[in-house]
Amino acid sequence: MRDAGRTLPRNDPRQYDDLAGEWWRPDGAFAMLHWLAEARAALVPPAPRPDALLVDLGCGAGLLAPHLAGKGYRHVGVDLTRSALAQAAEHGVTVVQGDATAVPLADGCADVVAAGELLEHVPDWRAAVAEACRLLRPGGLLVLDTLNDTALSRLLAVRIAERLPTVPRGIHDPRLFVDARALVAECERHGVRLRLRGVRPAIGGLLGWLLRRMRDGNRPDATDAGPPPRIVPTWSTAVLYQGRGTRSG
Ligand SMILES: C[S@@+](CC[C@H](N)C(=O)[O-])C[C@H]1O[C@@H](n2cnc3c(N)ncnc32)[C@H](O)[C@@H]1O
Repeated sequence: MRDAGRTLPRNDPRQYDDLAGEWWRPDGAFAMLHWLAEARAALVPPAPRPDALLVDLGCGAGLLAPHLAGKGYRHVGVDLTRSALAQAAEHGVTVVQGDATAVPLADGCADVVAAGELLEHVPDWRAAVAEACRLLRPGGLLVLDTLNDTALSRLLAVRIAERLPTVPRGIHDPRLFVDARALVAECERHGVRLRLRGVRPAIGGLLGWLLRRMRDGNRPDATDAGPPPRIVPTWSTAVLYQGRGTRSG
């Protein structure tokens, strides 16, 4: 597993610059983001009208883009990290450099707002939720996934996952993990009734993937990538969860 290459505080956004070469490697340090992007895109229906806009908050290098292909959205991505945005632009995303807590886009501009693996990186996640809801038009859809603020989540997503090739070391600050009930309440306050479900990688696929990674290491030339693990629903939201909700009004 690669780590950030220099010692930076947990959740320091400069880690994304150090790991810029990893974004689009399917078996690289951000492999799990690819699996999650596919699962997130599955929550997004085809565009309701021509010119429908999907705003992807914390879009990173645009990993959601291939999974939206054919759905008919203009895909606008907002992120702090310029090196990630440059790659997102190469994948057809219209990029905006900015903070998810102060997005330079108009109220009600979006048919869909996506916030994948973002909120657990934002010190003021409530401000990012307020922005996500502000950007949505009435009837617009919010889709997100994040890590819950529980002891189990800290154990699995930080202590264990950071020792495996699934998550780069130091990328998360567990103090920022997002309490699921507080998130639902915050969305409700901004007119979005969010429904949650727990998700996890399918165990068989994950074990196969980990074994291949142990066999091949992180070699860019490894060819026998095999099928990626699928993200599947699970009964508990205690670790990783998706949210989906429509803005009233
Ligand atoms: C774990 S990555 C997820 C990227 C993308 N959503 C995906 O799933 O592939 C988190 C991303 O959020 C960005 N980010 C962190 N804090 C942010 C903030 N306050 N505003 C905008 N982007 C932020 C980082 O630069 C990084 O690209």
